[in-house]
Amino acid sequence: MSGQSESAADSETDTVSGSDPDSNPGPGSRSSPKAPAETDEDAFDDLLAFVEDELNFATSHYNDSYLDRRISSRMRRTQTDTYAEYVDLLHSEPEEQESLLESFSINVTGFFRNPEVWDGIRQILRHCSARTKDTDETIRIWSAACADGREPYSLSLLAHLDPEIDADAVEILGTDISKPALETARNGVYEAPRTVDLDDQLSFLEEYDEQYEQYVERQGRTYTLDDHIRQSVTFERHDLINDEPKSTGDFDLVVCRNLFIYIDNEFKRPILQTIARSLTNDGFLVIGKAETIPPSLKSAFEVRDARRRIYQCDTP
Ligand SMILES: C[S@@+](CC[C@H](N)C(=O)[O-])C[C@H]1O[C@@H](n2cnc3c(N)ncnc32)[C@H](O)[C@@H]1O
Repeated sequence: MSGQSESAADSETDTVSGSDPDSNPGPGSRSSPKAPAETDEDAFDDLLAFVEDELNFATSHYNDSYLDRRISSRMRRTQTDTYAEYVDLLHSEPEEQESLLESFSINVTGFFRNPEVWDGIRQILRHCSARTKDTDETIRIWSAACADGREPYSLSLLAHLDPEIDADAVEILGTDISKPALETARNGVYEAPRTVDLDDQLSFLEEYDEQYEQYVERQGRTYTLDDHIRQSVTFERHDLINDEPKSTGDFDLVVCRNLFIYIDNEFKRPILQTIARSLTNDGFLVIGKAETIPPSLKSAFEVRDARRRIYQCDTP
């Protein structure tokens, strides 16, 4: 995980909705770093073209204002004043290419983020467990855009602790575009920065008394997940925009939260179609609390819980 804090998470979400006073409305209207007005937009476009063509990151799918904020932040760090200078730097320094790509993947996350949504997820897992009870069927879950793994591990913790969920039947796949985030995920060890309270994130499990402590070993600010929790989860790199679905018609639940807020509207549809194809006929989808399903795709999903953004596939 790139050391971003939860407060960064909140401010990142705010900037996307435009309420951050420091947010940029987009290239050409930037205040910092400075760039000559007449070349600003062209140079920005050149920069995005370089990132798209040479670094293989689909910039055209993301909001310009979001990309501009991340690029401006790298420009400040590298003390480059114009987009043109920054493109030159990218050409000559592979390490900066990596840093820019990493800054594009907004990997802010947490255990049991938006706890009220997790009440709904628990209901889905119980429902699936009741259905597979006394069979040898597996409950397949895909945490798409899982960042450093805390989302799929939350699913695993819940499955192991809730007596109405059959943890042995649960298989969780966590995918993300970011290799460093996946590396942290595979290790299952989390260092809590001062600004992040992991105990607070894990407090969703308090109703299971002290039992969750058998699954999360704490030493100072380091939290290590137990092998049982890790063994239910596998991680793979996957790009939701460019790659094929992880499987077709196989997943009982897909959790894809807090990615769509960074994606241009027109690209939400293909991503959601990819997800819809990967779900069983009556599989569930959970998206982020600030996210919506585009009207053109609403017929593919029944709303199960509007407030928690829980949907169910509606294919015959
Ligand atoms: C804000 S995090 C959300 C993490 C988690 N789902 C949550 O809600 O806590 C967004 C994640 O989307 C990932 N991401 C960005 N573009 C992606 C893409 N095209 N395919 C897959 N993951 C992507 C980022 O690397 C980042 O880890």
